[in-house]
Amino acid sequence: MPPSPHENTAPRVIFGGDYNPEQWPRETWDEDVRLMVEAGVNLVTVGVFSWATLEPSPGERNFAWLDEILDLLHANGIDVDLATPCASPPPWLGIEHPEILPVDQNGVRLVAGSRNQFTPASRVYRERSLAIARDLAERYVDHPAVVMWHVGNEYGQLDYGDEAAREFRAWLTRRYGTIEALNAAWGTAVWSQGYRSFEEVLPPRAMPYLVNPTQNLDFRRYSSDQMLACYDEQREAIRAVGATQPITTNFMGFFPHVDYWTWADHVDVVADDQYPDHSDANSPADTALVQDLMRSLGGGRPWMLMEQAISSTSWREHNLPKGPARGRLDSIQAVARGADGICFFQWRQSPFGAERHHSALLPHAGEDTEVFRTVCRLGADMKALAPVVGSRIDARVAVLFDWPSWWAAEEPGRPTARMATLEQLNRWYRSLWSRGIPADVVRPGASLEGYDAVLVPHSYILESDAAAEITAAVRRGASLVVGPYSGVADSRGHIHQGRSPVVLTDLLGVSGEEWGGVPDEGVTLQATADWAGAPASPITASVLAERLRADDATVLARFSSGDLTGMPALTRRAEGEGTAWYLGAVVDDAALDTVLAEALAAADVTGPVADLPAGVEAVRRGDVLFLLNHGAPATVTLDQGGRDLLTGADLGPVLSLDSGDVVALDRRG
Ligand code: GAL
Repeated sequence: MPPSPHENTAPRVIFGGDYNPEQWPRETWDEDVRLMVEAGVNLVTVGVFSWATLEPSPGERNFAWLDEILDLLHANGIDVDLATPCASPPPWLGIEHPEILPVDQNGVRLVAGSRNQFTPASRVYRERSLAIARDLAERYVDHPAVVMWHVGNEYGQLDYGDEAAREFRAWLTRRYGTIEALNAAWGTAVWSQGYRSFEEVLPPRAMPYLVNPTQNLDFRRYSSDQMLACYDEQREAIRAVGATQPITTNFMGFFPHVDYWTWADHVDVVADDQYPDHSDANSPADTALVQDLMRSLGGGRPWMLMEQAISSTSWREHNLPKGPARGRLDSIQAVARGADGICFFQWRQSPFGAERHHSALLPHAGEDTEVFRTVCRLGADMKALAPVVGSRIDARVAVLFDWPSWWAAEEPGRPTARMATLEQLNRWYRSLWSRGIPADVVRPGASLEGYDAVLVPHSYILESDAAAEITAAVRRGASLVVGPYSGVADSRGHIHQGRSPVVLTDLLGVSGEEWGGVPDEGVTLQATADWAGAPASPITASVLAERLRADDATVLARFSSGDLTGMPALTRRAEGEGTAWYLGAVVDDAALDTVLAEALAAADVTGPVADLPAGVEAVRRGDVLFLLNHGAPATVTLDQGGRDLLTGADLGPVLSLDSGDVVALDRRG
């Protein structure tokens, strides 16, 4: 995280947001900086969508306004995360060079008038965006306000046009070398799809019927790589002019079109945009998982919440305003889960344009508002949380997740379209969250050394490297829980041949031969006498179930209705020092929670607070224990009290938390 030149080396939580001064007359800027200072804002992201202002016509440069605002911000002690403006090319670029505009799957070319109207594959787009980025970097590399660089914005563009076709073929040539290798990997023997040369291959545009799943999978990989190439060349250009500041771009959580594992090493600070929907009761837990993912992408390093909304968004169908308590909970939750920077979209609410109803730190109604008072209070909270800056979270649980696996799992033409990777991941994670247990999200195949529990909610693609890591972790003593329809395919999306999950059957002691949908009314499961800790309530399963055989495992539950009656549904097997559970169906929340609780207990994984009340989130970051009450008023009993960093009060071990209350207990000494 960049230290500020204004505060020497004193640790600080970055606090601020996107600032678009080009939308405002010069007089407004003075009021902006005055109120930023009042609110405790110490960093703003400038220039994200300013290409047309910086380059009003081809080759022209208009930097005067940017010189002035950067100087003004710096003079007022506010740092800048300076953006390359490449997310939204000016209309003239698309008019002069229509090939820079993206084409959708149906061949429709998109036009200017919104944003993101570019194809990452276009050479002209790349040259022009690089040129403006380079000039910007050269001009401001030594500006004392600039403490960070922000390349583009929320990379996520998909393009199926001719520019993309050319680059996709080049990507495939690098990946496969020969057309024979591509034909084999794509299984083109099916439906007469064999290609004679790479020139014949197209992006997966609109087709009469189901698309070759490996073609889709590779196109997703290619698209992610192509966007990364855009990012990388700008990053290199910024470095080439001598920049020493961190360089990043903003991720979007579990975003479907970018494989952030492959991007993670390319950003100096992992930065993320989070817009949870608070009308969903699961949103605090689901957001916590996103935040654990961000921490994991950075290898445990502090990350930055680059964007969030202080209240409503402009794109959600129905917005429930956040209110002060929720606004505060959201930001402090991110700090608790490893963020050292808390920023928003955006500083001042726009009176016009598509985001005129998107909330901002300074609303249309001005400073005499609940929102602005919330912002000022948050600014003070962030100052008070400075002692946590740089500290880390120790996670003993690994949850496996990978983008290609998600992509391949949800290709059409599968046993049931109701099985959703993220939904399963979220369901499993909620059990951890309710116990105050953080997780590292781990890419299958990466080391599992040091983890006491390994969860595999739904890893459709699993290969032998991942299986070897998983097996070694169990032998060392870890608890492993594997969910249904995992280990189905290899990295090409080809179904592993043999009883499933082929690469894990020895470890699990159970094997399957068919995956099938479960009838709408669900099926029941009956616990066996071997399952001492079985839930008291009846167990049900939905969505998907497997026809299993227990080869060398204890059966904990069997199907008790439907076609699979009498067959194993849930098993357990000891291996080395550890234990492996297998779920052969999507079981209900209570049963899932029971299995996960058993596995965590077997590995002695506990949260920082025993008997955490429902709705209260507990996270230990470094020496600080955060308690966030997302639910009804609750009493939390700790083994010891501590000083609350947020209020400075010394608190005893029994805490009464109102809805929305947050404490940050300093446990040092
Ligand atoms: C993000 C984007 C911002 C703003 C925000 C609104 O996708 O990066 O520029 O549009 O959403 O929620």
